[in-house]
Amino acid sequence: MEKQTSAGLERKRLLQTARSAMKKAYAPYSRFRVGAALLTTSGRIFSGCNVENASYGMTNCAERTAIFSAVAQLGPKWKIRAIAVVNDHGVPCSPCGACRQVIYEFGPDAVVFFPGKNGQQQAHITELLPEGFRLQ
Ligand code: THU
Repeated sequence: MEKQTSAGLERKRLLQTARSAMKKAYAPYSRFRVGAALLTTSGRIFSGCNVENASYGMTNCAERTAIFSAVAQLGPKWKIRAIAVVNDHGVPCSPCGACRQVIYEFGPDAVVFFPGKNGQQQAHITELLPEGFRLQ
């Protein structure tokens, strides 16, 4: 068996945490459950799931739930080192455009892990969102 690198273990732990968050999803309309888990630069992990609404546009994606939960616990001063996103359909699930912008706000140097057609994939947030918006 190959020796796991610490980055590999970190990724595995994030994916496991995202999978367990996914089980809590409230997705009666799409029946597409999503879980996300983020690692802060200081080593804390926060997770979230999608929360849908009968007024569909009010739905909150798993990634934003995880980020907002971290803000609620830690306040505003922290950064995302990595974030993992999984779903229960086993399809490629890179974050939606709105979530990319929110990830960029708290993680301009974040790595995003997501399941792809060819197994696990990862990308830097600026590959997913070039020219992200900054108010400065
Ligand atoms: N969804 C997420 O939670 N994260 C994504 O990155 C993509 C989409 C949710 C929103 C909605 O509840 C369901 O997946 C179907 O779009």
